[in-house]
Amino acid sequence: MTVYLDNAATSFPKPPQVAKGVYDFMINIGATAGRGAYQRALESDRSVYEARKSITRLFHYNNPSRVIFTSNVTESINLVINGMTKEGDHIVTSSLEHNAVWRCIKTLERDRGVSISTVPCTVEGYTNAGDVEKAIQKNTTLIVFNHASNVIGTLQPIREIGAIARKYKIPFLVDSAQTAGVYPISIKEDNIDFLAFTGHKSLLGPMGTGGLIVNWDGKIYPMKSGGTGGDSAYPYQPDYFPNCLETGTPNVAGIVGLREGIEFILQEGIEKIFKKEKELIAYTLEKLQEIKGITIYGPKDCEKIIGVISFNLKKIPAEEVAYELDQRYGIMVRAGLHCAPTIHKIIGSNLIGTVRIGIGYFNEKKDIDRLIKALKEINT
Ligand SMILES: Cc1ncc(COP(=O)(O)O)c(C=O)c1O
Repeated sequence: MTVYLDNAATSFPKPPQVAKGVYDFMINIGATAGRGAYQRALESDRSVYEARKSITRLFHYNNPSRVIFTSNVTESINLVINGMTKEGDHIVTSSLEHNAVWRCIKTLERDRGVSISTVPCTVEGYTNAGDVEKAIQKNTTLIVFNHASNVIGTLQPIREIGAIARKYKIPFLVDSAQTAGVYPISIKEDNIDFLAFTGHKSLLGPMGTGGLIVNWDGKIYPMKSGGTGGDSAYPYQPDYFPNCLETGTPNVAGIVGLREGIEFILQEGIEKIFKKEKELIAYTLEKLQEIKGITIYGPKDCEKIIGVISFNLKKIPAEEVAYELDQRYGIMVRAGLHCAPTIHKIIGSNLIGTVRIGIGYFNEKKDIDRLIKALKEINT
């Protein structure tokens, strides 16, 4: 029996109805969405629309046509940042960004003369929303923040940051890669203008699915132009949602699977999912502290983090710990910088990386017990 603890990378297992949804679509429908008038094409179209509706229900939004499907959160983030940033603009961001944001804005800094302010955070990953306000300049055109760190799990005060963004009428983009599906998010109450999400993590959908909710009325230039299934004689990308930002044949099978994942979450209830995750986080933090010489990064408080915990053992490099866990004990975790280099400088692990546990909804205390037993043996 193996133990999967790499849910921060991608969730596993998925609820059976996710695979069933994909299978049923491919076997019984298999027609493209938004492009044909025959029954099966309309059925495909309806499936995509139902998925948009499930997403609006989960994130407390009211307009399914403002849900854009992409292939992952990276694409959603690139869509917003590249689509609305011009030369001379200024972007405010956190110190905990994943490369999905970081490389995107660093490239614009190099190629488009965009400037960046990185809001400081503490060694535990806490950001003071007031520091975001201090970082705003006359030419600030976007605030982009990670909702929770994929290295140390620390939740960011997005509601307060969103309120500041509203005060200055600056659009606010949230990377919800680590929170969507496990932590309650409300577009309205959290003051979010763009919610970027990925389908394959806590939303329990297939890889290659993701999206963006656009709660903002300004112009975003599409990254791609092409077929939308309508207005075909018009030489440009249409300017109405969702077609203005969605082009080419969508991944309908994946979208159907994603909808099944989201329906599973809605049926279980996000509060129940979050409660179970918190209990497991508290248990893991308590048990990890039994290991001699361990350094646990980030807050040791299940109220402040999502199910992502990074640590290092004193004498054994992170890669070796992960290798031993896999080879000798069948326990899957990840080691390294986890595509988020800036936070490692703050926690002091930029040269060594960390071992990262990613807890998922289908993990149980017995998985953590096996991890702790194995770590104690490796540590001797
Ligand atoms: C915070 C954060 N942002 C972005 C990403 C990128 O996700 P994807 O590869 O699904 O686009 C990840 C995934 O590792 C993440 O943890």
